[in-house]
Amino acid sequence: MRNSIKFRLTLFNMSIVLIVFLVFGLFVYYGTHYILSTTLNKQLLLMADAIEDSYIPEKNRFGYLEPGTESFHAAQNAWVRIIRKDGSVYFASIPFQKNPIPFPIKKARQLTGKTHLYRNFQAASQQSYRSVILPIYNPAVKQDIGWIEVARSTEHLHTMLTSLKKLLIFAAPVLLFLVGGISYWMVQHAFRPLMLMRKQIDSISHQQLEQRLPVVNPKDELGQLALRFNDLLSRLEQSFKKQQQLLSDVSHELKTPIAVLRTRLEQELNNPDLPAPVQARIASDIEELVRMSQLVSDLSLLAHSMEGVFQEQKQPVNLKLFLVSLEEDVKTLALMKHHHLNWQVCSDVLVEGNPEHLRRIFYNVLENAIKYTPEGGHISLQCRAENKRVVVEITDTGIGISEKDVPKVFERFYRSDQARQMDATGRGLGLSITKWLLEIHNGTIDIASSSPSGTTVRITLPKYQPM
Ligand SMILES: Nc1ncnc2c1ncn2[C@@H]1O[C@H](COP(=O)(O)OP(=O)(O)OP(=O)(O)O)[C@@H](O)[C@H]1O
Ligand SMILES: [Mg+2]
Repeated sequence: MRNSIKFRLTLFNMSIVLIVFLVFGLFVYYGTHYILSTTLNKQLLLMADAIEDSYIPEKNRFGYLEPGTESFHAAQNAWVRIIRKDGSVYFASIPFQKNPIPFPIKKARQLTGKTHLYRNFQAASQQSYRSVILPIYNPAVKQDIGWIEVARSTEHLHTMLTSLKKLLIFAAPVLLFLVGGISYWMVQHAFRPLMLMRKQIDSISHQQLEQRLPVVNPKDELGQLALRFNDLLSRLEQSFKKQQQLLSDVSHELKTPIAVLRTRLEQELNNPDLPAPVQARIASDIEELVRMSQLVSDLSLLAHSMEGVFQEQKQPVNLKLFLVSLEEDVKTLALMKHHHLNWQVCSDVLVEGNPEHLRRIFYNVLENAIKYTPEGGHISLQCRAENKRVVVEITDTGIGISEKDVPKVFERFYRSDQARQMDATGRGLGLSITKWLLEIHNGTIDIASSSPSGTTVRITLPKYQPM
């Protein structure tokens, strides 16, 4: 999951949105804080200014605070007080009377001209307040005669900011969830062609190189990639076909000259006048030719298996007779290595197949058993009929195949290091051809082996079913 691009893209989108939202949240929070504080400051200063402007020097009174007026009534209920220069209270509204907060006279004395001072304080009720302190200028004596302090509760400001904070904290996971869901859906949608391509690639093998990838939108990047890949497939298909053709042609062309040479040499060998060393050389040449013709025949079968279309000429074959005749061929090979053969053929049972190819199937397996068993080993063949199938098991006491090598032995040209040491002539084609021929015959092959205690190869073939 963590390695999936879809997951990583979704996570990336979510992280970007989270960072943007954090920056936006901080901006909104501190922006609102700033706007609310400045508005409050302005309102405080406006009222303090109005009171200061209403000062009548001749009467030493404030028009704003004239008893009986509407402004006086408002000021009485708000937080307003006027402090004389010596610190005594000239006027204190009801809230200030109830909460005689100390006046910061030292700081107030530092105020000159038109300057003013803001401060925060807490009332006895633990409520927070903000106030402005403004000097009162008397033009008659040309100096400040005291200060006006106007205050207001900041509770509503704090309540608003706390609500905003809660809203932002609640919105973050909801937004993340939404963005995550939408991103995943979008990425999934965008990656759909890629999934289709992957599925198709999985199904393409060397036998289906004519298949092509689906192109959902030829104009987008994935469509372009699919087109390029299809191009590559076409080129591969062509070169693969050429190789197949070459393999098929070469193996076909080689068959006749090898057969001619072999016949000639065999005729020559029949000449009793030949000196013994020449006879020995001719016999060894014939052996080489036999091996060569086997290789050519393997290559020809390989070419057919690569083409993927192979019409088999099948006929009912009596497996008992077939295996008895095969024993004759194998015996010579086994005797050369002093192996003991234990041949238990089944009672008359018919399978359907091409006798030449059936022979190749069993011969390849038996040849391996003989080759990969050190001299004087035991090789057994057992055959039994099971329901609709015939099972043939070939067991040897040879070098065995390690667990990790078992699936590989059906690959073309695969040979284990131990096998190479024991037999230099093999090409690693026998079992891959056997497997392919068995597939054509609807048969199966399994290997049970535990190196170094021998190998059992189990072949099954369907019984012949007359129409
Ligand atoms: N009976 C066996 N005992 C031990 N190893 C085996 C046996 N049969 C097959 N193998 C292993 O499987 C490999 C593939 O076998 P396969 O018959 O395909 O090729 P080969 O015998 O090496 O060459 P070729 O059959 O083409 O002459 C062998 O090289 C060997 O490593
Ligand atoms: Mg072999």
